[in-house]
Amino acid sequence: MTEHTVTEQQVLDALRTVQDPELHKDLVTLGMIQDIHIDDGAVAFRLVLTTPACPLRSQISNAAREAVEKVPGVQKVDVQVSANVQRHNRAIAEELIPCVRNSIAVASGKGGVGKSTVSTNLAVALAQSGALTGLLDADIFGPNIPQMMGITQEPRQSDSRIYPVENYGVKVISMGFFVPKDRPVIWRGPMVSQAIQQLLRDVEWGDLDYLIIDLPPGTGDAPLTLVQSIPLTGVVIVTTPQSVALADAMRGLAMFQRVGVPVLGIVENMSYYICPHCQERTEIFSYGGARREAERLGVPFLGEIPLDPQIRIAGDEGKPVVVSEPGSPQAEAFRLMAGKLASQVSMLGAAKSAT
Ligand SMILES: Nc1ncnc2c1ncn2[C@@H]1O[C@H](COP(=O)(O)OP(=O)(O)OP(=O)(O)O)[C@@H](O)[C@H]1O
Ligand SMILES: [Mg+2]
Repeated sequence: MTEHTVTEQQVLDALRTVQDPELHKDLVTLGMIQDIHIDDGAVAFRLVLTTPACPLRSQISNAAREAVEKVPGVQKVDVQVSANVQRHNRAIAEELIPCVRNSIAVASGKGGVGKSTVSTNLAVALAQSGALTGLLDADIFGPNIPQMMGITQEPRQSDSRIYPVENYGVKVISMGFFVPKDRPVIWRGPMVSQAIQQLLRDVEWGDLDYLIIDLPPGTGDAPLTLVQSIPLTGVVIVTTPQSVALADAMRGLAMFQRVGVPVLGIVENMSYYICPHCQERTEIFSYGGARREAERLGVPFLGEIPLDPQIRIAGDEGKPVVVSEPGSPQAEAFRLMAGKLASQVSMLGAAKSAT
């Protein structure tokens, strides 16, 4: 029997046969393999994913392990999985939020479709996966995020720096902290964007993988100026499935594309209703419209969230459903969505990282 000495080259060659199913490149080319150690037949290496929220985490690490196990002479393979979120913010971000790797706006064409609900649950789900996550409530007209995140205290300020309030592992700042509560706010777009820029600059976010930004509703003056003044990696569009809401959402989407903001995906909220008594499924607002539109426009579809009283109660009580009912199908739907969103962000840079 011939004795096989395993070499690093053989390990790398084996790993070159494994592709990231979403980024469509092999793990070595993507720079995901680090710290290879070979001790006789025992091989250890680190698999560095592009996000801790990677939905294919175990699939990729199993494939990597199996590939290396096939190298002659290998008896044992130890894969350490970690993640390193790449920066996909645009130039303006360097100045405003240098420690934020990705800023993702959540927008809608219509009000009341569940932007804030989606923002909070996405942010908490990303944090739960291990990503450093912040949440900015930029909805100057109806800042609901503090309530939905169960935050009652004001942010600490010192030396003209503002320190976010943290809950459920997410660092939160709301415009609501800085505007008088008893007076209606009548701000024009430029004022809103100036205030947001100031706020972004003054907040001590620390290192963040993802900053989720809950935008004001609609496609009017305020959200339009905002998306142009905030350094966005991309935007998520929330819609409900009935055609009027969808039409507005598609107008919003076109607006973002016009101003050059990548659309990371569409979410269908209040997609269907499962009767808690008989489990019968009812498609109240008709169903699947957002997926069809996403396919038609070639934009990613990030998933659907059921209409569910628990989601509303969780929001009202300041405990997003991914915290209050982590084992529920609703929470699972949000986690799945967070994973898909993180993948979309990773994909923005796949081409770059491979060169
Ligand atoms: N999937 C859902 N099931 C049940 N209730 C929901 C769901 N999504 C959102 N809601 C409820 O609908 C209401 C509106 O949701 P939310 O505040 O998230 O919408 P929004 O788009 O942020 O609204 P606005 O345009 O006013 O900012 C809230 O009471 C929320 O709890
Ligand atoms: Mg809202």
